[in-house]
Amino acid sequence: MQLDNFKKNHFCVIKNYIENEEINKLLKIAETNNLYGGSGPSGPHILYPSDSSVLNTLFRNISKSRLKAIDEKKEEFNLDEYFIQTYSKQRYWSRFMKYNDQEFFPHRDAKEEVMAILFLTQYGKDYSGGLKIINNDLTEINLDSLCNKGDLLIVSGGAFIHYVNVHSGPENIGRITYFVNSHPLDTKGVVSFTEGTLANRILMAKQYLKESIKKSVK
Ligand SMILES: [Fe+2]
Repeated sequence: MQLDNFKKNHFCVIKNYIENEEINKLLKIAETNNLYGGSGPSGPHILYPSDSSVLNTLFRNISKSRLKAIDEKKEEFNLDEYFIQTYSKQRYWSRFMKYNDQEFFPHRDAKEEVMAILFLTQYGKDYSGGLKIINNDLTEINLDSLCNKGDLLIVSGGAFIHYVNVHSGPENIGRITYFVNSHPLDTKGVVSFTEGTLANRILMAKQYLKESIKKSVK
């Protein structure tokens, strides 16, 4: 699978975005300042600009990389101008997220929302499961299985119904990521499936997809 074509896939993976030394530094910042949030929107959000120069730099770099992935022409864009012009009414934030044995229900975000997720622990070693997207043919892709520790995943939250389901057991560190949002206040077009067990919610989401595809074909 080609992992670098955001326009085609609505997601891409930038391999080895940061090195181990920086990963350890980030984990230390998160731990020392108690910045971990769990599943869903709970937990502390780090507003940009923040007190930490390390996080400010990372936030800006990731925002730039995401912009470049979405639209190559904007590579040379002045990021400050871009923030002011495009997102003037919004507050920018990032968060550290830590999942052990947790899930977050299936939903689709607002159309323009594009998540940037930097992996700070290793799929298959520190945890299993991950962020799963449901395609229009109702198949699923576990995006975490395409990523290693240090990789940056950029994925449209508006293009797919997606959910998170992580298992780590108490003996493993779990799934830790640094997450940069895009349109935090834009809730137009968000679809959520919140009732019942995760299995039921996934079924509901697939049913919804089936029907909306049927409608669009007519
Ligand atoms: Fe989402």
